[in-house]
Amino acid sequence: MLAAIAAYALQLPAKRGKAFDKRFGIETTEPVVVDPRDFIDESHRSAIWYFPSIPEVFDSVMRTLKIRAEEYTFVDVGCGKGRVLIMAAQLPFRRVVGVESSTATASIARTNVGVVAGRSSLRAPVDVLTCNALSFDFPPGDLLIYLYNPFSKLDVYVEFLDNLEASLKAHPRKVVLVYTCPEHVRAFEECHFLEPIERYELLVNEYTWCAFTNTRYRTPGRI
Ligand SMILES: C[S@@+](CC[C@H](N)C(=O)[O-])C[C@H]1O[C@@H](n2cnc3c(N)ncnc32)[C@H](O)[C@@H]1O
Repeated sequence: MLAAIAAYALQLPAKRGKAFDKRFGIETTEPVVVDPRDFIDESHRSAIWYFPSIPEVFDSVMRTLKIRAEEYTFVDVGCGKGRVLIMAAQLPFRRVVGVESSTATASIARTNVGVVAGRSSLRAPVDVLTCNALSFDFPPGDLLIYLYNPFSKLDVYVEFLDNLEASLKAHPRKVVLVYTCPEHVRAFEECHFLEPIERYELLVNEYTWCAFTNTRYRTPGRI
């Protein structure tokens, strides 16, 4: 009996993902293993293979954080096939940006976004950039940065946060970072310019997420 429940629970994300794909007429559910030939650089060495976020995680984040989408640019770090970009673009973000260092996967994301944009009206402009998130030039304005376990190593998250800090130093602004399935959360907890704003909400299948915001490099007067 327990085994049957566990098996059902494991299938749930795939089922929910397929419902998402069917709704939009795209494919974002099948995983993609890391193939170095697909990547623009050495980032495959620390890349986690493509697995999509389940829609409930994104919904839980947006429901809990009560972000005013119109005040933020949404950035999905390692956007894979673009499922999160499409969910974000259902909301009126200033802009939605996907960063992906696998050329093959980024190309699928672009196609998927194009299909959805052609069939329904997205509420935010979406761009998919084929680049390494460690050297990514963050867009101007306040940012909601979403990470679903893109990197396999703690020091890569630290490098990512160093790059973000350099951007914030040059252009102070508010940042909210959402980290789902937070395996290397220590990089965020020990980061001197971040503090937690939401922690470990338990979701279906034990998916968890947490969120941080910057305590330094903010525009004066920004709450
Ligand atoms: C677990 S998937 C997450 C996909 C998507 N964010 C979602 O939530 O549905 C992680 C993705 O990060 C990408 N990735 C890994 N390292 C990267 C890097 N240094 N720069 C950009 N993308 C990277 C992988 O190729 C993969 O598509």
